[in-house]
Amino acid sequence: MSNYHIKDLEEYYQVYRKSVNDPEAFWEEIAEEHFLWRKKWDNVLSWDFKKPEVKWFEGAKLNITENCIDRHLSARGDKVAILFEPNNPKEGVEKITYTDLYHRVNKFANVLKSKGIKKGDRVCIYLPMIPELAISLLACARIGAIHSVVFAGFSSIALATRINDSNCKMVITSDGSYRGKKTIDLKSIVDEALEDCECVESVLVAKRINSEITLKDGRDEWLQPLLNQASDQLTATVMDAEDPLFILYTSGSTGMPKGMVHTTAGYMVYTAHTFKNVFQYRENDIYWCTADIGWITGHSYIVYGPLANGATTVMFEGVPSYPDYGRFWEIVEKHKITQFYTAPTAIRALAKEGVEYVEKYDLSSLKVLGTVGEPINEEAWHWYDDNVGRKKAPIVDTWWQTETGGIMITPIPYCTPTKPTFATLPFIGIQPALMDEEGKEIKGNQANGRLCIKFPWPSIARTIWGNHQRYKDTYFSTFENMYFTGDGALRDEVGYYRITGRVDDVIIVSGHNLGTAPIEDAVNEHPAVAESAIVGFPHDVKGNALYGYVTLKETGEGRNQENLRKEINQIITEQIGPIAKLNKIQFTDGLPKTRSGKIMRRILRKIASKDTSNMGDTSTLLNPECVKDIMDNVL
Ligand code: WTA
Repeated sequence: MSNYHIKDLEEYYQVYRKSVNDPEAFWEEIAEEHFLWRKKWDNVLSWDFKKPEVKWFEGAKLNITENCIDRHLSARGDKVAILFEPNNPKEGVEKITYTDLYHRVNKFANVLKSKGIKKGDRVCIYLPMIPELAISLLACARIGAIHSVVFAGFSSIALATRINDSNCKMVITSDGSYRGKKTIDLKSIVDEALEDCECVESVLVAKRINSEITLKDGRDEWLQPLLNQASDQLTATVMDAEDPLFILYTSGSTGMPKGMVHTTAGYMVYTAHTFKNVFQYRENDIYWCTADIGWITGHSYIVYGPLANGATTVMFEGVPSYPDYGRFWEIVEKHKITQFYTAPTAIRALAKEGVEYVEKYDLSSLKVLGTVGEPINEEAWHWYDDNVGRKKAPIVDTWWQTETGGIMITPIPYCTPTKPTFATLPFIGIQPALMDEEGKEIKGNQANGRLCIKFPWPSIARTIWGNHQRYKDTYFSTFENMYFTGDGALRDEVGYYRITGRVDDVIIVSGHNLGTAPIEDAVNEHPAVAESAIVGFPHDVKGNALYGYVTLKETGEGRNQENLRKEINQIITEQIGPIAKLNKIQFTDGLPKTRSGKIMRRILRKIASKDTSNMGDTSTLLNPECVKDIMDNVL
């Protein structure tokens, strides 16, 4: 790819103005110059946020894997594409070159074809962070199958919900996974899930932990023998620009998870372009993003963005605390990592363990540090800057979402002066707006409001799988003609943005988005529970943690509260996964409600956060007396 780096702030503003004055011309130029098309587009963009409908590069034909693999073969065939760092450092790394990747993706895609997977079919991928995960995404994309990756920490019920929602025909999994000292039995989670999934015809199982598993006759097969027999040649299926590339589920404030649908061309153009600029990527860099490919960060900035640039991308299977808290830094030193991209929760967890673990290692290769997933607090920002970047590697605080596909607000390193806790400026082509409660745009700097985006960008999710109405209601109905992010933000005197957090009932715990409603549903399944309300409260490592207020039925009264707490968290673990467990559970006789019967979460949030100044008027509540009782017994 030729050089399209932004060099300084002046150039940023210049390019930014160009990008918003004529977005079509701007994105067309990037698409023309940097990608491999089987056929060019007839129309750069058509859009209508009222419907809503967005189409980029309509009429174009391509395959994203030809852009991520094939076109690099002549110049970079022997270059490492994926550098796999296993959970156990003693196991040794695996280096997959672009040529290897080409062969392995072709073989995998041939196996998918032989199992009857066709263009448009949905394939669920439930794998740990092993090379097969990245390869399976690319294999699906190669033949036009739509991948739906489910993070391998979700429970069997959560997995089944997602498989059924998009009617997946196949599941790709492994016998198990490693997580530090632990192993997790993934295959039996899949087996349990599939008891409720009639749509799944076949299951491919990668071998990772050599555990004893059962293969269901006629449904399950080991992956490796199939790969051994498959041809390493396959011509990629030609896709339309707007053909779906993948579905990825994200939690909403209510009900079912939302299967966000991303399409091919726009997603490719935007993730590649942001990768190159936000990380100031250069040819011989070794880039490492610590996210899991089960989340959007892994899709866009471990797999598609880096590979579209012909980069070396590191895949790490383990956890930051194993064998000890120096693991991240040991890897940085060993591979001479140049860009390191992680989450605030990981930074806070490591900062707690002390600087000895960082100081031991030579981190001088680092040029850019990134953070994503939740607001980064000032203390964590400085710890990262002082101890990891050693004040030489700028921090890019990147704000974006599963729905946006790629990074939206971010500094450009060595160009945008950083400011702790500020994601700073919109990326080229992105037009943010802050809205007030009345639905009017707040113009000018020094503003505080709800964050929206005014104009489409190439990687905006096109719909929610099977539920376009919900897509419209969630993102395009709150403010007219705007995409609403669900986040609050403020803009400072120079126009920098700081994301203040969610304004809906989504709580970000350790960087994972959790909707309160599905967790409350799980809690309410406990036979002794009458009603529950869940809110977030500040936590020094997780960012937020979950606080549950629970009222019991008569049958639950007098029961041992510790046991009840354990049982409630057990149900949550089964229904959603351990990431949604409640940190604190307070049993109470009543929940504060409005006269129309709605639970007043605002009050509960304040109590859980131990911030009871300014509680507002509680006298209009249906049951004001319960507020004092809850406050007196807060945990
Ligand atoms: C939050 C992750 C503050 C935000 C890529 C958003 C952030 C949600 C930042 C999306 C950031 C993400 N600063 N908050 N730099 N990045 N968020 O879908 O609330 O897992 O709406 O996508 O994370 O989370 P998701």
